[in-house]
Amino acid sequence: MKIAILGGTGSIGEGFALRWAGNHDISVCSREAEKAVKAADEYKNMLLNKRMYCSSLGGCTNDMGIMDANVVVLSVPYDSVITLLKSLLPHFNNQIVISLVVPMKKNQLFKYTPPKQGSAALEIKDVLPETVKVVSAYHNISAKKLANLELRLDYDVVVCGDDEEAKKTVMKLTEEIKTLHPLDGGGLSSSYMIESMTPFLINLAIRNGFSDLGVKFV
Ligand SMILES: NC(=O)c1ccc[n+]([C@@H]2O[C@H](COP(=O)([O-])OP(=O)(O)OC[C@H]3O[C@@H](n4cnc5c(N)ncnc54)[C@H](OP(=O)(O)O)[C@@H]3O)[C@@H](O)[C@H]2O)c1
Repeated sequence: MKIAILGGTGSIGEGFALRWAGNHDISVCSREAEKAVKAADEYKNMLLNKRMYCSSLGGCTNDMGIMDANVVVLSVPYDSVITLLKSLLPHFNNQIVISLVVPMKKNQLFKYTPPKQGSAALEIKDVLPETVKVVSAYHNISAKKLANLELRLDYDVVVCGDDEEAKKTVMKLTEEIKTLHPLDGGGLSSSYMIESMTPFLINLAIRNGFSDLGVKFV
């Protein structure tokens, strides 16, 4: 599968590129081609140093990455995602778009600040063509832990979406990241519950002296 990671140069994009590069063609995407190529080269070297197989991992601009992708990962901050997507609209057709975007603000602690649609995922769905299948996942996975290939990620990932096939694809991609466990979270309208858990987890970590908390429903 061809996976384009928009903002793949950033914190959580790195982890997805490293974790999926063994099985998929990965485009690390950026607003700047040079930055994307540099990041992709760094990720490739990281995998080579660990003697891990990497099928195809390259860097390009966000628009180039989307064009021939089956799956597009939105790995950019909430404040920029809608403007970015509007600028990229002509390049979308029927891709699966994964939103891990969490709208939140920091005062002393973190607060979930959803848009009027109720969640970032629904707002993103509103701006994309109807043929694009938006799936919401990975909001509660720490970027630091995802990028650490030595770690066993014993967490659940709640996946929400209105297209069952697209949701299944994302659940399968999740299973490929050892040892994340995908859970069907229902339709996209449920995304707000899982998005809002991220500021809750960060506040919980701050209050109790932890870092990078994840979730396991047992
Ligand atoms: N970090 C985590 O642990 C974590 C966990 C779960 C979910 N998330 C979600 O994942 C998303 C990415 O988080 P992150 O921590 O990886 O973010 P980040 O490192 O701050 O940024 C990721 C990338 O977004 C791009 N970007 C920044 N400002 C932009 C703008 N104005 N317009 C277009 N692109 C812009 C940059 O890529 P270029 O400069 O190369 O274009 C940057 O490398 C967020 O929505 C966050 O809520 C993060």
